[in-house]
Amino acid sequence: MKTVFSGIQPSGELHLGNYLGAIRNWVSLQDQYRCIFCIVDYHAITQTYEPKEMSRRVTDMVVDLLALGIDPERSLLFLQSTVPEHTELAWVFNNVIGMGVLERMTQYKDKSEHQPDNVNVGLFTYPVLQAADILLYKAEAVPVGQDQLQHIELARDVARAFNHRFGKVFPECEALMTNLPKLLGLDGKQKMSKSLGNQIPLNVFGNDKAMRKLLAKAVTDSARVTREDPGNPDNCPTVGQMHKAISSPEDNAWVREGCTTAGIGCADCKAKLGDNMNAHFASYVERRAELVANPGRVEEVLAMGAQKARALAQRTMSEVHKKLGLLRPKASA
Ligand code: TRP
Repeated sequence: MKTVFSGIQPSGELHLGNYLGAIRNWVSLQDQYRCIFCIVDYHAITQTYEPKEMSRRVTDMVVDLLALGIDPERSLLFLQSTVPEHTELAWVFNNVIGMGVLERMTQYKDKSEHQPDNVNVGLFTYPVLQAADILLYKAEAVPVGQDQLQHIELARDVARAFNHRFGKVFPECEALMTNLPKLLGLDGKQKMSKSLGNQIPLNVFGNDKAMRKLLAKAVTDSARVTREDPGNPDNCPTVGQMHKAISSPEDNAWVREGCTTAGIGCADCKAKLGDNMNAHFASYVERRAELVANPGRVEEVLAMGAQKARALAQRTMSEVHKKLGLLRPKASA
């Protein structure tokens, strides 16, 4: 069975974009792969953040991941900073990769522009830690979005460079691209994201009124200026995309027919979407309530994950130490 590794930043509660763009795929990958999912808190500290909020961000995210169907019995779910081998291997990798390669990383350039007062070394070497995440578990496949392809390529270069110089330890990983919808935010302009405030947070499900109120805000096809103007669901950035992602073929046919002939209005289309989302997220809402009532469960999952991940990580590190020719006093082997 192939090993899949993926990481996610602890942004707190997940939103519909995270779900449709990544987590839904993670849940189904569990059937075919040995999956390792990591909440990358050491990556998160490269950005300016409020320390008081960090543990909450992590717990909220674990609650959401479990409620959505990440199964800790089948998959490994853990917190990056509880497995110090990640940063240890990242340090080793710092020595096989050139400055120039990292300087060319587009995400580094973007992020430095975004926080010009905090262009720290962690931000620069971020992709090296990401390579360590993946390679520590010798993962062959990495499900990521388009924006991470350059980082996965770098991980492959790092593996190759290490193997070439010190002897083969690491496989060459590949990005696992799936056909995922590009979900825009409620503004209909930019990718759904918490920092832009255009998101539909998953925790709105279970509160029907609040959810419908958010949907009402969603920008639709600009061709439909009035109820009488026909539109096209393909040009409806948020609502049209969400129907495609979660509604049945019959409902999608109803949407297309109604929208293109102005037979239904956007409010009708949103009402149907609201119903379908309620159905889609019913078991999530139920499981989330159970987890919220039982906070010990999250800790238990993270403790178990840390223990299992560490055992695997230490095995790889001992191979690495050997190849590097480092002295291992017997007691610390
Ligand atoms: N950089 C990734 C992101 O922002 C998160 C991440 C960290 C990751 N380590 C990883 C993704 C390893 C895949 C594999 O989305």
